[in-house]
Amino acid sequence: MALTESGLPIQPVYGPEALTEWDPAVKLGQPGFYPFTRGIYPTMYTGRPWTMRQYAGFGTAAESNARYRRLIEAGTTGLSVAFDLPTQMGYDSDAPPAHGEVGKVGVAVDSVEDMRELFAGIPLDQVSTSMTINAPAAILLLLYQLVAEEQGVPAHRLTGTVQNDVLKEYIARGTYIFPPAPSLRLVADTFRYCRAEIPRWNTISISGYHMAEAGASPAQEVAFTLADGIEYVRTALRAGMEVDAFAPRLSFFFVARTTLLEEVAKFRAARRIWARVMREEFGARDPKSLMLRFHTQTAGVQLTAQQPEVNLVRVAVQGLAAVLGGTQSLHTNSYDEAIALPTDKAARLALRTQQVLAYETDVPHTVDPFAGSFVVERMTDELEEVAVALMDRVAELGGAVAAIEQGFQKAEIERNAYRIAQETDRGERVVVGVNRFALAEEEPYEPLRVDPAIEARQVERLARLRAERDGAAVEAGLAALREAAGGSGNVLHPMKEALRARATVGEVCTALREVWGTYTPADSSW
Ligand code: 3HC
Repeated sequence: MALTESGLPIQPVYGPEALTEWDPAVKLGQPGFYPFTRGIYPTMYTGRPWTMRQYAGFGTAAESNARYRRLIEAGTTGLSVAFDLPTQMGYDSDAPPAHGEVGKVGVAVDSVEDMRELFAGIPLDQVSTSMTINAPAAILLLLYQLVAEEQGVPAHRLTGTVQNDVLKEYIARGTYIFPPAPSLRLVADTFRYCRAEIPRWNTISISGYHMAEAGASPAQEVAFTLADGIEYVRTALRAGMEVDAFAPRLSFFFVARTTLLEEVAKFRAARRIWARVMREEFGARDPKSLMLRFHTQTAGVQLTAQQPEVNLVRVAVQGLAAVLGGTQSLHTNSYDEAIALPTDKAARLALRTQQVLAYETDVPHTVDPFAGSFVVERMTDELEEVAVALMDRVAELGGAVAAIEQGFQKAEIERNAYRIAQETDRGERVVVGVNRFALAEEEPYEPLRVDPAIEARQVERLARLRAERDGAAVEAGLAALREAAGGSGNVLHPMKEALRARATVGEVCTALREVWGTYTPADSSW
């Protein structure tokens, strides 16, 4: 018997008996209405295609700016900034831990000057920008707002998202800085700040993608992501916010695997669970608080370095799964990403894949095409059941943070990753071009290379910035930030003034490290 990625049996044939207890009025509802199984908008893509939002960024702000302009010319409809690791970890490009990583896996942003260059010539009231930044998310958001002010764009016109999901960093990705408590305080401060100053901004992108990439099954991906979401909602409520004041601006981020049927079921089940949790557990009343709005990225971990062009086929199937599942925004991976940073041609082909799905297929012409399908409705129900049971398990452990501190999610994901690796090694899990249909000799491939002189240029820019700025104003700004971080005021206000005086990302994070300390993982008890 074949099994789904979540370990559930797949019947060779499904018929009406699969849905005998199934009531469409309860399980489905109408598109755009509770429980949103069929999608969060009544018209979905018949009203507006999903946002084609390609994750990009490397080297200096100028190089990434050029890539964004090329993507906009090629038809991308949303920007998505990749930051280099030093920026994500709150270190300046000239800090010792940054050496060798500057501009490597994303763009180096040390100050308002780099952010200005990153968006030079791009009017910030005309684009929606996602920023994949977590521990220092508030800082990069404020730098974005400062540049918008310089462009004459008022904050209430800005649209976009900061990932700002530090809990999954403790579980799977690792770019955390501060311990959970101050990290969650900073998330709540960001929610409150955006509610008042940048109301159209999506304040968080609660992510399952990285847990999936680390080996989580679809059921684990949904369960641990929504459990993180529940923790963020609780955090904002504890900070005194009303649920309908922040919940409409929560967003999510999932993977799309090649196992299309189960992935469509996964997205539909996730929407139904979240709608129920927000209405039943938190008493949310605004329909926008009940909608699970999400971005999808095709599964990077399923790309192969062998016969890389085969990845074009995988990404097309994965992109189709996301669209059939009702995603609001989509990144399709480039076929060469398992080897190196994507070349311009590979990045363009990735976008073209979305454009074929949007403009050549008939899938966007009707909402939730799989509704009523024996197999997909059965899978949706079964996946929901397994995910809810796992969410209850996390709740029994005291919630997402308590479970993280016990190493629960990490251990569960590692167990599943090990199972996948064993099945692949035994050839039970086929990876075309790798453990079946492999070539005796791989064809040559010329990867994109990042100029190693990036780091030196960035360090030079920082030295000039520090020489030219008003050092006293920076010190005063950082002192005010430290004071707010030690108190209960919203840290984003003094943070913005320090950044305006050209304090750097690293200096702001260091000021916060001095007050909040840094996170060191406890030994897992699982
Ligand atoms: N009917 C009515 N209104 C509609 C509609 C329809 N059919 N379709 C869209 N709209 C409206 C929406 O209501 C929205 O209006 P609003 O701004 O006033 O709310 C507007 O049109 C834009 O639509 P969406 O909000 O659905 O689409 P966006 O693209 O703007 O937002 C999102 C999507 C998921 C809510 C948002 O959070 C987002 O863009 N997330 C992206 C996250 C991302 O790109 N992450 C990258 C991660 S890469 C990473 O982690 C690193 C590596 O390790 C993988």
